[in-house]
Amino acid sequence: MKLNNGYEIPSPGFGTFKIPDGDICVESVREAIAAGYTHIDTAAVYANERSVGEGIRRSGVPREKLFITSKVWNSERGYDKTLKACEKSLSDIGTDYLDLYLIHWPANNLQFGDRAEAVNIDTWRALERLVEEKVIRSAGLSNFYASHLGPVLSSANICPAADQIEYHPGLLQQETVDLCRRNGILVEAWSPLGRGFLLEDETVRRIAAEVGKTASQVLLRWCVQNDTLPLVKSVHAERIRENLDIFSFSLSEGQMKEISALPEFRYGSHPDTATF
Ligand SMILES: NC(=O)c1ccc[n+]([C@@H]2O[C@H](COP(=O)([O-])OP(=O)(O)OC[C@H]3O[C@@H](n4cnc5c(N)ncnc54)[C@H](OP(=O)(O)O)[C@@H]3O)[C@@H](O)[C@H]2O)c1
Repeated sequence: MKLNNGYEIPSPGFGTFKIPDGDICVESVREAIAAGYTHIDTAAVYANERSVGEGIRRSGVPREKLFITSKVWNSERGYDKTLKACEKSLSDIGTDYLDLYLIHWPANNLQFGDRAEAVNIDTWRALERLVEEKVIRSAGLSNFYASHLGPVLSSANICPAADQIEYHPGLLQQETVDLCRRNGILVEAWSPLGRGFLLEDETVRRIAAEVGKTASQVLLRWCVQNDTLPLVKSVHAERIRENLDIFSFSLSEGQMKEISALPEFRYGSHPDTATF
C-alpha cells in the first residue's frame, strides 16, 4: 500500500505483541521474513525489540528491503522523552532508521486532565523532528480516535501517515476510519483476528468454507478489502505462512456485508479509559 508521503508499506504486517523476548521471538521473526513478510510491527513496550532485531539479522534479508515499525510508549510521551525513546528503540532493534514510528496511545484526560491534548501535540512535534532528521521515514499514530486525531491534525506540520487501531469485524471504527480517509491516513488494523477469538465465529467459518480458505485468511482479506492494512501475529510457522495467502481470492459484496454485521466486540482497551 502507499502512504500519503509516497513511501510504500507492505501488507500484511507481521505483529509481535506478546511474543516473548528470546528464542521464540527471534525464530518467529526469522520465520516470518523467510515466508515472505517484509513488514514487522513492534513496540518498546513489547519488550522484544532486541529479539526482533536479531530475527531480522538472522533472516539474511537486507535491512533496506524491510519495513520496520516501532512505537513510543506511554511513559515516554512528551517532546524530549520521545526523542530519547526513539533512540533506544533504534539501538535495541539494531537499525539506524525506522520506516514508521507511532505514538502508541493518545494521552487522555484521565491521565493528564486538560493537558492531554498538549501532551499529544508535543509528542507529535518530536515525531516531526525525527522525520526532518531522517531518523524515521514516516510518523504516525496508534489508538488515536477521531476526537484525538482532530487536534493533532489542526496543529501538525506533517500529516500522520498511519493510524493503527483495533479493527476487525465487530469493531468497524467508522468515524475514525472516515476521518483517516479524508486526510489520506492509512488505517492499520490491530488484532485483525480478534486475538484469535473471531476464528471460531460461525459466519466467518461458513464463509471460509464457501471460498475454500481458512477463517484467518477470510478475516485478513476482509481487512484488505476494506482498504486497511492488517497486522497479524503468530508464533507457528504454518500459521505464519497461512496468513500471507490473502491475495489469491476475494470475498463477494454479500460476504463482506455479512462479516461486517457481526456483533460489536472490543478485545483491547478504549483510549479514553485506558489508565496505563
Ligand atoms: N497499537 C496497539 O495498541 C496494538 C495493540 C494490539 C496489537 N497490535 C499489533 O497488532 C498485531 C496483531 O494483533 P494481536 O497479536 O493482538 O492479535 P491477532 O493477530 O488478531 O491474533 C493473534 C492470535 O491469533 C492466533 N493465530 C494467528 N494466526 C492464526 C491462524 N492462522 N490460525 C489460528 N490461530 C492463529 C495467534 O496464536 P499463535 O501465535 O499461537 O499462532 C494469536 O493467539 C500485534 O502483534 C501487534 O503488532 C497493536
